[in-house]
Amino acid sequence: MFFKPKKNAYIKALGYSIDQDGIINRYIREKENWDLHLEQCKRFILDSAANKKQQTAMILGSGWWLDIPTEELCQRFENVFFVDIVHPSQMRHKASKYKNLTLIETEISGFAQSTYQTVRLAKKQKTKVDLSVIIPQTILSDLLKENNVDFVVSLNLLNQLDILIVDYVIENSNDDVSEHEIQTFREQIQSFHIQSLPKGKSCIISDYQEKSTQLKGTAIQNKTLVHTAFPVANRTADWIWLFDSQGYYVEQHKTIFQVKAIDF
Ligand SMILES: C[S@@+](CC[C@H](N)C(=O)[O-])C[C@H]1O[C@@H](n2cnc3c(N)ncnc32)[C@H](O)[C@@H]1O
Repeated sequence: MFFKPKKNAYIKALGYSIDQDGIINRYIREKENWDLHLEQCKRFILDSAANKKQQTAMILGSGWWLDIPTEELCQRFENVFFVDIVHPSQMRHKASKYKNLTLIETEISGFAQSTYQTVRLAKKQKTKVDLSVIIPQTILSDLLKENNVDFVVSLNLLNQLDILIVDYVIENSNDDVSEHEIQTFREQIQSFHIQSLPKGKSCIISDYQEKSTQLKGTAIQNKTLVHTAFPVANRTADWIWLFDSQGYYVEQHKTIFQVKAIDF
């Protein structure tokens, strides 16, 4: 089953589909280096699923299903939902083979549409973009409640939620939004996501630190990807993901991510 709402202008403007194409192209180039990370994601999800009520599971950020133990989840749970802002057509086709799997297409952060509208209004009125007036929509908590979800996984998504939204703000605000305002906004987007996940039923897997080392040299760049605190966990795991060995993501650099998985 597949629920597809009308495509909204903000989804196109913020560039979500292009971003998703980038993931599969990078996976094809880096398959051997990604496999260990993908296996660790799947194992953590199944271990977390084991002590939850086995009726309804929801995966947030399903994308190309690379990091999802789809077969096992569909066998264990009565209903399984995969949620993403865009589902690739290949995955829509694949989903039709599972009787108890439903794809939902929706924006999960709750900030994308309101940010898009705020930025456009400021542009039209030639005023400064005021990020503090943006009120997020409760899309995710409504979705979890409506579907009586017993187990939810935020899957390699947390550190992505702020990026396209903030890039859109920066590109369309004539540099009049300060670094401090941007940083506060990133934190707000990520912490709102974490607060929307129910305690005792949730799992987050996310890269949180990026380290890029020159391919021909020793210079290192570090970047923080998660701007808020992770919740207190029942169980946690940490591993390294060799994300780009060829210097495409950060030009002429090898990039690794530090990944954290938590069950809470
Ligand atoms: C890095 S990918 C996660 C990997 C994914 N499970 C896969 O195997 O391709 C992040 C996914 O989250 C989705 N996503 C990013 N921001 C989103 C948002 N605000 N709402 C819904 N989905 C979003 C992207 O479209 C993408 O498919």
